[in-house]
Amino acid sequence: MIEPPILEFKNVDTYYGNIQVLYDINLKIYKGELVCLLGGNASGKSTTLKTILGVCKVNKGEVKLNGERIDGKPTKQIISKGVAIVPENRRIFPRMTVLENLELGAYLRNDPEGVKKDMEKIFELFPRLKERINQAGITLSGGEQQMLAMGRALLSNPDVLLMDEPSMGLSPLLVDQQFELIQKVNRQGTTVFMVEQNANMALSIADRGYVLQTGSIVLSDTAKNLLCNEMMQEAYLGGADVCETPV
Ligand SMILES: Nc1ncnc2c1ncn2[C@@H]1O[C@H](COP(=O)(O)OP(=O)(O)O)[C@@H](O)[C@H]1O
Ligand SMILES: [Mg+2]
Repeated sequence: MIEPPILEFKNVDTYYGNIQVLYDINLKIYKGELVCLLGGNASGKSTTLKTILGVCKVNKGEVKLNGERIDGKPTKQIISKGVAIVPENRRIFPRMTVLENLELGAYLRNDPEGVKKDMEKIFELFPRLKERINQAGITLSGGEQQMLAMGRALLSNPDVLLMDEPSMGLSPLLVDQQFELIQKVNRQGTTVFMVEQNANMALSIADRGYVLQTGSIVLSDTAKNLLCNEMMQEAYLGGADVCETPV
């Protein structure tokens, strides 16, 4: 039997009130993939993630998780079915400790042994967090806060990890580290759907990418092909010559 995609959009339209923001979105993300959704400011990237989470209602079309429709379901139910998000600007709880922030990620789980194991895995992945376990979130650096936000999301043991502009507000060095961590998490088996304006960086680690322009998907291809695509070069990659000339 062929497994359905972990996540699928079929002809999805999303509105805020009377204003349509997403137009006929189709996308598929398969188990183990690292897929990015690229696009400029206000193109509808965050709205796509909010549509998955049921925060924005679908007006037309279907959103499926593991083959099962989730559009129209309450957010809490969607999260409990296997979706986690690292939101824009991280949004950790500043006065809570690192441990308390992490534990929040597991609040819908009822397998304490599994949570304990996953907590150990997260400390292996982010040793910095273990060193700072009793510190308040606010005392962490930007890069450490991003680790905490990722750790919290991973602690729900999601089928798919959504990330909203992980590079936003980080210095270039931290952006590099951040993308290395995302790649590592993906290689350890987590399916990742990442939204980014930084197309060069995102495509350098992604398997595939979709490009959004004013709410419509205008391109969809492997990361390698997108890096070589002329329109991508002009509109999003700043003419960076990262494309190998075909022999
Ligand atoms: N809560 C909202 N109410 C009305 N319009 C919104 C709301 N949130 C976002 N929008 C509009 O939807 C469009 C897409 O926004 P968004 O998905 O946040 O874009 P991106 O994440 O790509 O920057 C923008 O034009 C934005 O102004
Ligand atoms: Mg956004």
